[in-house]
Amino acid sequence: MQKPIIILNYKTYLESTGDRGRELTWAARDVMQETGVRIIVCPQTPELFHHKGYGIEVFSQHIDPIEPGSHTGHVLAQALLHCGVTGSLINHSEDRMPLPDIKKCVEICRKNGLTSVVCAESIEKVREVSQLKPDFVAIEPPELIGSGIPVSKADPDIVRDSVKAVTDPEVKVLCGAGISKGEDVKAALELGTVGVLLASGVVKAKDPKAALRELVAFK
Ligand code: G3P
Repeated sequence: MQKPIIILNYKTYLESTGDRGRELTWAARDVMQETGVRIIVCPQTPELFHHKGYGIEVFSQHIDPIEPGSHTGHVLAQALLHCGVTGSLINHSEDRMPLPDIKKCVEICRKNGLTSVVCAESIEKVREVSQLKPDFVAIEPPELIGSGIPVSKADPDIVRDSVKAVTDPEVKVLCGAGISKGEDVKAALELGTVGVLLASGVVKAKDPKAALRELVAFK
């Protein structure tokens, strides 16, 4: 079975803030080096620089549909690049944006060599945003986010049909929500995705490094 892609969203949990967040990044780097599984971490915007230079990909949780100029408080692609960031989540369930802004963010990412991961809450939304040709589309049913109930088990149809809805082979599909175990990741791959997007299953685990190891240790 191909190796999954794991995107670990730090959200704004205290367990992934400050030095605890950096320790989580080091743990993810170690597990990636041990297993050869591509793991990407998504710390909070103010802390992105804190995670630079540890030999692991760092994505932003958010990017704004703006060009350089007077946009106080917004997140600029060029500033993300300066932080060593190589990609961004766009339209996460906890940070929705209108379609024209999603489109602009995907274009800005493409123009700046940033990997774009557009999140979607339904098969219809997956179909719609995949037309924008992001690098990844992530199906995440909002009702399962943070539930500990894995989408790849609780609603395999939404994952399978999201994969079918993406007709462009350049656009890869991820799934997320409630993922915490290796068997959840295996199920996600068997449904046609290239990997998962998760948060609480690792960030809030007693031993996040052990949780990460278990997550990628399936046959
Ligand atoms: O971005 C990942 C996220 O929304 C899923 O959250 O805690 O269910 O893994 P969680």
